Amino acid sequence: MKRRVLFPASSRPAVITALVFTALVVSCAPKAIQTEGIILGFSQIGAESAWRNCNTRSVQEAAAQAGIQLLFFNAEQKQENQIKAIRSFIAYQVDVIAFVPIVTDGWENVLEEAREANIPVLICDREINIDDGSLYAGYLGTNMLRQGRSSAEYLIKKFINSATGEFLEDRDAAVRIVELSGTEGSSPAILRAKGFRDVLSRYPRFEIIYSESGDFLRSKGYELMSNILEQFDDIDVIYSHNDGMTLGAIDAMKERGIKPGKDIIIVSIDAEQAAIDALIRGEINCIVECNPKQGPDVMLLSGLLAKGGTIPRVIYMNEVVFTEWDDLSNIEPRGY
Ligand code: AHR
Repeated sequence: MKRRVLFPASSRPAVITALVFTALVVSCAPKAIQTEGIILGFSQIGAESAWRNCNTRSVQEAAAQAGIQLLFFNAEQKQENQIKAIRSFIAYQVDVIAFVPIVTDGWENVLEEAREANIPVLICDREINIDDGSLYAGYLGTNMLRQGRSSAEYLIKKFINSATGEFLEDRDAAVRIVELSGTEGSSPAILRAKGFRDVLSRYPRFEIIYSESGDFLRSKGYELMSNILEQFDDIDVIYSHNDGMTLGAIDAMKERGIKPGKDIIIVSIDAEQAAIDALIRGEINCIVECNPKQGPDVMLLSGLLAKGGTIPRVIYMNEVVFTEWDDLSNIEPRGY
């Protein structure tokens, strides 16, 4: 039988860069990782956004390509369903468990159970908060603290004169920011909020006047924004933790005759196609990419783990920032 291997010279996912340059991985040379026949249990959180659907497709397609048998469970936004799925993977004695933790806390017991069963665990996309870090092999995902920081850095460029440190516009008052936050207790909500505040705290005139969770849902982005516009009439900036909520918020603004991207500056995260199109139309001012195409890297890491290999503790996907000041004429179709 022909053995299936990942990363021939032509493909270079984020994992390869990490493996080549890290001293942590010594047991498996990254030339060819055998993946055929591996059984991978993957617990996804749901289908809350276009981003998530792309992430799911990426995992499913990469598994098929790698000859990996994928046991895939959609948890429909419930941590208890994820824990059940992981327990079923343990009972099935899969080779590797991978999961996207919906929230950061509450994983100790089930990870102990995986360790007792000798099954390596890969954390994907979202991070966890746990005392004993040895309960999982590594994390593959995106740098969400960085995403928050990049969002704030855009605002600084937008509002502050870099030479003088003064506000560019003739503003006596503060720059008033409303934050549409992600699912409470999830690492993207926590880290995107933190990174944003870390940078802006140096500039007291930026004020976050309101922050509420829209659960990464377009429908809630619309609802939240409709209520917020009833309460405040002097919002300068919307900082939204994902494009789905941003697009919902834009609908609410347009309904009230507010021009998104002009009357209110909008900073968003993900870079899905519909948001990039809105950026091109001038309705969004900055989008920080969050890269969902993690499937090939998940398969590479699963191949290493199934063979008893060690993987780097943290691998971040490559990402870019798109702003209103960039040449937006040649952006490749996003695929999500
Ligand atoms: O965990 C990644 C986040 O979850 C994405 O930004 C968001 O769109 C998704 O649903």
